[in-house]
Amino acid sequence: MPSKVVVGAQWGDEGKGKIIDILAARADLVVRAQGGNNAGHTVESGGEVYKLHLVPSGILYEGTLCGIGCGVVVDPKVLLEEIDGLQARGRRCSQLRIDPRAHLIMPWHIRLDALSERALGKDKIGTTGRGIGPCYMDKAQRSGLRVCDLLDPEIFRRKAYAAGEQKNEIITRVYRQPPLDMEAVMEEYLGYAQRLRDYVADVSVLADEALRAGKRVLFEGAQGTLLDLDFGTYPYVTSSNPISGGVCTGVGIGPSRIDEVIGVAKAYTTRVGEGPFPTELTGELGCYIRERGREFGATTGRPRRTGWFDAVILRHAVRVNGLTSLALNKLDTLAGMETLKICTAYRKPDGSILRDFPPSLEELAGCAPIYEDLPGFTGDLGGCRGYEELPAACRDYIERIEELCGCRVSMVGVGPGREQNLER
Ligand code: GDP
Ligand code: IMO
Ligand code: MG
Repeated sequence: MPSKVVVGAQWGDEGKGKIIDILAARADLVVRAQGGNNAGHTVESGGEVYKLHLVPSGILYEGTLCGIGCGVVVDPKVLLEEIDGLQARGRRCSQLRIDPRAHLIMPWHIRLDALSERALGKDKIGTTGRGIGPCYMDKAQRSGLRVCDLLDPEIFRRKAYAAGEQKNEIITRVYRQPPLDMEAVMEEYLGYAQRLRDYVADVSVLADEALRAGKRVLFEGAQGTLLDLDFGTYPYVTSSNPISGGVCTGVGIGPSRIDEVIGVAKAYTTRVGEGPFPTELTGELGCYIRERGREFGATTGRPRRTGWFDAVILRHAVRVNGLTSLALNKLDTLAGMETLKICTAYRKPDGSILRDFPPSLEELAGCAPIYEDLPGFTGDLGGCRGYEELPAACRDYIERIEELCGCRVSMVGVGPGREQNLER
């Protein structure tokens, strides 16, 4: 295992945290490349449940170095709370490193995220409200504040005042809301600087050194392919590139340094937030899957929308990420259903068949899924410890997914625990 990228193949929450935690047992360095605390990655280990938002999911192994790359947007308050929370549970975070180029989420980003969603009304994106979009907007506009700015109080004050005053104009004049108290913001953030200083290191250099030394490096994706700013269901997406290509710019390594790309998917589909979802099940069956799969957001607690497995989405994910294998989670959730459906293609209103995921939202909204029925399986899969122990119908379901997506399933999830992962 020299270097592996782990990405979400659907709309996020595919179980990336669990897969990273499992692979991290054999890794020297785990790095996050994009997103921020919109992510919620669950790791279950020894009966303990950890919900990680910014800290990489390799943190539970003391010998594993963990990096937050330059493509991540960092809310220092959330990061420090997360570090404190881990330390309170006996976990050390001394092996954590944060890239000085990473952008900072400021209080005005969070305020503007909420105000913009409110202004959109029924057309809202359904964001996590963590200030992610506004922070990436400032990064692209070249007016953002970075971790390196925070390390020098004078530089930080000058840049933050200029940026904050401008945002206060928007908050007061466009949204007609009270301004933020800039002095309070300065004080708060300069307090964080004291504590964050020790963690700052060039993550691009760290990753390069590790790769040159033949060490094992894991890149932890956040969100998922259909939330990608370019290849997702725009505008119902996040503001970064969660696909594998985002790792290069979000860490500072070249594409030639990536050996494997693992796509994580659920055995069905879920999504939080607004936007089209062709195989969505809005009735009783959708509720059944939500309850059985405990499909409630790890970050916001929102109920996740649920639906059948969509091979059109997975083929898109295999292509845009260059997936070399798939980790298919939550097979156990589907046990007990008489028939399972897999969407193999979409039918357009004119009757023509679409095999590739369409770029236009309007085109997608007009598509009807074409299903193939497969026999369901029963039993508690949670205790299975080998692929051959799975019911035959379950293996047939997995193997049909492989055929339809053109990608090998190398890991199968039968429960949230570390040991509930079957490697093939
Ligand atoms: P992430 O954002 O991709 O890391 O995924 P989340 O942690 O947001 O959501 C995945 C949820 O599914 C978590 O509660 C996991 O503990 C759980 N999970 C992961 N794999 C499996 C599995 O194979 N079976 C079951 N039942 N739960 C799983
Ligand atoms: P993990 O890493 C699922 C969704 C939000 C919303 C859209 C934009 O746990 O898989 P944002 O706050 O990013 O501007 O919201 O993206 N979203 C996620 N959905 N899992 C995530 O992360 C998500 N991060 C963002 O619900 O629809
Ligand atoms: Mg999640």
